[in-house]
Amino acid sequence: MKRVAGSGSAAYDNGANELLLTGTLRPHDPGDLNEILVVVEHGIASARGTFYVNVKRLVHINTTAYRTLAARILYACQSKPDLRVVIVTSSVVAWSARLFSHLVGLHENISLKVYDSAFYPGQTFVENESFIPILRTQTKMTWRHEQPILARHGLVPGLAVADICCGIGDFAVLLKKEFRPSRLVALDHSAASLAYARRVVAEIGVQGIEYTYGDASQMLLEDNSFDFVTCRHSLQIFDRPEVLLKELFRICKPGGRVYITNEKNSHCLGEPRSESIQWTYTEVAKLFAFFDMDVEMGPKGIRLLANAGFDQIQMETFMVTNHDGDPQDFADVISAWENVYAGEMAVKRGDDPEFIDRFRKGFQDHMFAALHRSGYAGWPIWAASGRKPL
Ligand SMILES: C[S@@+](CC[C@H](N)C(=O)[O-])C[C@H]1O[C@@H](n2cnc3c(N)ncnc32)[C@H](O)[C@@H]1O
Repeated sequence: MKRVAGSGSAAYDNGANELLLTGTLRPHDPGDLNEILVVVEHGIASARGTFYVNVKRLVHINTTAYRTLAARILYACQSKPDLRVVIVTSSVVAWSARLFSHLVGLHENISLKVYDSAFYPGQTFVENESFIPILRTQTKMTWRHEQPILARHGLVPGLAVADICCGIGDFAVLLKKEFRPSRLVALDHSAASLAYARRVVAEIGVQGIEYTYGDASQMLLEDNSFDFVTCRHSLQIFDRPEVLLKELFRICKPGGRVYITNEKNSHCLGEPRSESIQWTYTEVAKLFAFFDMDVEMGPKGIRLLANAGFDQIQMETFMVTNHDGDPQDFADVISAWENVYAGEMAVKRGDDPEFIDRFRKGFQDHMFAALHRSGYAGWPIWAASGRKPL
């Protein structure tokens, strides 16, 4: 059952016991909300056990609407004492948790959950400041490969572009300089990374990048808005990549393209000391899998894009190596990986010191190979894109 009032709408999902309120609710008087309230009443009457009121995508609500809804929810608790009500908010709509927490104080059966405070298993690592050095050195190494690849996948100047899961925003700065998009949105859920991104563009004087705090699995961006959408190294760290792809598809214009990059960590390699290096990167893949992240995703890109409804899929692979420019840059990437993967993630998994020592050794051997005058160190990446059918 779904009803719409202005740009706001309500729907009730019987199976999930969930009332979904979205858009903008700004009635002049409570009567304007009647269509919405039909759905609310239906939800209250049908719900058993826990009744979820999902306001994650409710962008605006005025006092009239809030008071009317609050009264109905309170009435539900009073008339059905066994019912638990959980209001589900998101930090993306900044005022939401604060406003709805007022309801929690009104009845003991009402609670509030900020959905995205811990919404995917890798979040604590990738949204942390310690991830910033990893991202900074990575993009420095990958850009020289990706710039021509992006052009081959259809990126030309003047397009409306979105970089979803933009991290520290350095890729967006490069896009801005080299491809001069007509619009450039860069969205991420890491407040630390976005703060860093905004600081950098202010310092270097780059303007026109719309850095946006958001959840890529539930974006507030409009349908069919962008000609070219990028999402790099991120489907592999979110536990529901198909949900992210659905959103990337939604915001892409028909005829536009979505471009993704992912790794296959067990294929990182080096000489000399190849066996130790190989062992460590096979363990990296297992470590990420423990936290529900798939850093072996790279070659699966074609299948993922096809399953999400894209056509005209293109895929290419490139190898970042110690011979691309300064070998120290490569070593810096590995050092940043060692710090987070061995220093934080393995510790969090509860690995014993002996394992962690061996795990670290493979990264150190990879750095040794990168800096050795006749050594070779490689990091393979899969870049794929698909067209949203016309
Ligand atoms: C490995 S980093 C890659 C960042 C950037 N694309 C790059 O290549 O440097 C993954 C990024 O995805 C972001 N991320 C993961 N899940 C997200 C979600 N559901 N919504 C928004 N950002 C998300 C993280 O905050 C992190 O910045």
